[in-house]
Amino acid sequence: MLDYINLKYKPKKTDLVCEFYVEANGVSFEESAENIAGESSIGTWTDLSTMNEKIAHQLKPKVFYLNEKENIIKVAYPEELFEPGNMPQILSSIAGNIYGMKILKNLRLEDITFTKKLLESFPGPEFGIAGIRKLLKEKDRPLIGTIVKPKVGLNEKQHADIAYEAWVGGLDIVKDDENLSSMSFNNFYERIRQTLKARDMAEVKTGHKKIYMPNVTSETMEMLKRARFVKANGGEYVMIDILTAGYASLQTLRNANLGLVIHAHRAGHAALTRNHQHGISMLAIAKIARLIGVDQLHIGTAVGKMDGAAIEVEAIKNEIEAKFVHEKKKQHILEQKWGNIKPVFAVCSGGLHPGMTAELVKIMGKNIIAQYGGGCHGHPDGTRAGATSIQQAVEAVMKKKSLPEYAKTHEELAKALELWGCL
Ligand code: 6PG
Ligand code: MG
Repeated sequence: MLDYINLKYKPKKTDLVCEFYVEANGVSFEESAENIAGESSIGTWTDLSTMNEKIAHQLKPKVFYLNEKENIIKVAYPEELFEPGNMPQILSSIAGNIYGMKILKNLRLEDITFTKKLLESFPGPEFGIAGIRKLLKEKDRPLIGTIVKPKVGLNEKQHADIAYEAWVGGLDIVKDDENLSSMSFNNFYERIRQTLKARDMAEVKTGHKKIYMPNVTSETMEMLKRARFVKANGGEYVMIDILTAGYASLQTLRNANLGLVIHAHRAGHAALTRNHQHGISMLAIAKIARLIGVDQLHIGTAVGKMDGAAIEVEAIKNEIEAKFVHEKKKQHILEQKWGNIKPVFAVCSGGLHPGMTAELVKIMGKNIIAQYGGGCHGHPDGTRAGATSIQQAVEAVMKKKSLPEYAKTHEELAKALELWGCL
């Protein structure tokens, strides 16, 4: 077996560095580290007659950090191990076979540091935060939106009507849910036609830019067809479920350069991120998504109080925020300077209602897109009033007024706060 551990090694700029959480199973911590480095690069379970000095010299990764107490190892991989611009190949190496090895009880990819060459091989977001703010002509405040609910079940017209109500009520954005694509009762193409028409009407009525994010997740050829249809019908955005569709699919959508803003939904992320001893961290997923080129990424709420929201809170607080926040300037990984890769809008959603808005902004700042599903359509007076109550909540936060105080003169907000126990 090649010797991969070299604690004196200083990673070079041309090394891709991975941090792993490791629990060994029946072998020493060092042996588990050797195997992780080998299996994720050039090695296998035994010595090879086919290995030569040249390959070993050029491509052998180095385990340069071992911390058995905290179960952390860091591995520096020469960038030649990776095909530029091919995210599936990169992940088949550093997040592939190693998860199945018997000598490991648990393994989690915590963080990835890409090299300049690899960074430059992906386009990153086309629009990013600045591009989206320009499109919406909103410089400062959080952007607000809703997800049409019920998740699925409405027909095309009902969907478009609800979207209209939400926009006219005061929201910027209306989005399809992650499991709504083209259904027997709601055809994708017809929904797009009707909902974009409703958007145009809402823009005329309100005098404000309105956004619709249709879910184009499907088989890749069909996905591109749907995305092109959105563009041809005057849409500016598409949404894709990046984990269920897969990174190759996301690359296809981004690299098609359709001039559409890409919203990334992360349905299924918890299968990878929830267990903090195993899988892939949300931080690593966020970096991968930013590199490939999503413009905005769903990352949870940080204030979710509902069942299940704790996973998202932990992901955002522990991985995206707290651990990697710059000391002075509070910036999460989606916003940090990263070569020429534009910053990505953080989308906070899941169990939000207007009464959580002040705390959400306090934790996450104003550079967020906040999306309320039940917290809009669950309003006692319906979707339009729900949308207005959300707009009022953001207004209050921007004016530095407390929500209960603002609610005294804003009826929709008052009703929402009362319903969800915030008065
Ligand atoms: C999404 C996410 C999800 C979303 C809910 C909102 O579609 O963006 O699946 O987390 O936030 O659909 O619904 P609630 O506000 O009712 O949780
Ligand atoms: Mg949803």
